[in-house]
Amino acid sequence: MQVIKQYIDDNKQRLLDELFELLRFPSVSADPKYKTDVLNAADYVAKKLTEAGADNVEVCQTAGYPIVYGEKIIDPALPTVLTYGHYDVQPPDPLELWKTPPFEPTVRDGKIYARGACDDKGQFYMHVKAFELMMQTNTLPCNIKFMIEGEEEVGSNNLGVFVKANKERLKADVVLISDTSMISMENPSLETGLRGLSYLEVEVTGPNRDLHSGVYGGAVANPATILAKMIASLHDENNHITIPGFYDDVTELTETERNELNAAPYDEAEYKTDLDIAEVWGEKGYTTFERTGTRPTLEVNGIWGGYIGEGAKTVLPSKANAKISMRLVPNQTSEKITQLFTDHFLKIAPKAVKVKVTPHHGGEPVVTPTDSVAYKAAQKAIAESFGRDPIPTRGGGSIPIVALFEAELGLKTVLMGFGLDSDALHSPNEKYDIFNYYKGIETIPLFHKYFAELSR
Ligand code: BES
Ligand code: MN
Ligand code: MN
Repeated sequence: MQVIKQYIDDNKQRLLDELFELLRFPSVSADPKYKTDVLNAADYVAKKLTEAGADNVEVCQTAGYPIVYGEKIIDPALPTVLTYGHYDVQPPDPLELWKTPPFEPTVRDGKIYARGACDDKGQFYMHVKAFELMMQTNTLPCNIKFMIEGEEEVGSNNLGVFVKANKERLKADVVLISDTSMISMENPSLETGLRGLSYLEVEVTGPNRDLHSGVYGGAVANPATILAKMIASLHDENNHITIPGFYDDVTELTETERNELNAAPYDEAEYKTDLDIAEVWGEKGYTTFERTGTRPTLEVNGIWGGYIGEGAKTVLPSKANAKISMRLVPNQTSEKITQLFTDHFLKIAPKAVKVKVTPHHGGEPVVTPTDSVAYKAAQKAIAESFGRDPIPTRGGGSIPIVALFEAELGLKTVLMGFGLDSDALHSPNEKYDIFNYYKGIETIPLFHKYFAELSR
């Protein structure tokens, strides 16, 4: 422990400067205009892995953005940790809401403000630096492999192909990921599950062209109104989802599991203040933790149609659209839910309009074991660096590749995230506490140490 702390102390500024350099690449995978920047970010990651001491570092080409691979095999007889992360980030929009530019990392009040500060550059880079630390202090206790991808934020479409084609290279004993949240720095926690995702887009078409809303209005169905009605009907008065069969496969938690989950500290007043909302909202009969961690949901991510420019234009739009996503919980599958949604949405559409449903990406829900050697190693590592045992929680977000690792490589994952839900992931002014960054670099070598020890 002393060795770790000393190394971090001796290299404090450099550890931060290097992260800042990484944060300056606008590696937005969703927008082709950033293509060069995304590729440059991949090269930077590869360079840093090499400098840290990794062997066989390769920027592996895919049909999309490359996957950066690197490894250090000290002894084939020792256990191997496969670290996964992503160097791509979400678009920074709406830009005008950022207090400082998203790709010029700025420190305010001990926090780094930048797109990707927490999700996931700040978090995966801790692993690169923890690896460097273990190499430099001669304390690497096991083998380590890195796989850092560049398409996580757009659904990891090419990762499956890569994993299938590289089963031997990716052989490991556990996957370690820092891309999730903790409750707070005072209440360290470990996520033991992630929700799945079914994402699709709908288009409602009324008349074959935009119409004068006075000449035709009242006699022709307005697709914007119809779409709004259809969407509103997807939840009932208790905020249950109304799609037939939607809940059929949902695994209900036992009373004990529910109690355990709800024992985690939660301050509703603080939650509401942070978001500036007067009330929380959700499925009747469930707490906030349950609603985000254990229940499936349906959200409108975007909705548009008709005239949205300056001033007024009297128009009855020809089309209205929405992007809709559903978060899934164990035993639901994205394929089935996508089908159920599609069937239902087409069925509830009045004859006056045509409806098209286009699926985007999907991902399966996961629960991670809490009785494994790797989970115990994570518990011990956190207990030691934070001085408190981690609380098990269920994450509301999705990392679709976790299910893929299990299916293709037979590997379980440990979700050792150091972010906070309030770090504004995907929002303007995303941040990551410098404290969390160093704390992560301190905790990760302890994970490797205990994982190697407990595996013996
Ligand atoms: N790191 C997040 C997922 C996350 C955040 C899990 C916080 C738990 C807590 C990841 O980068 C992400 O944003 N995933 C997407 C899904 C993806 C297919 C676009 C998501 O959850 O919306
Ligand atoms: Mn992420
Ligand atoms: Mn994300």
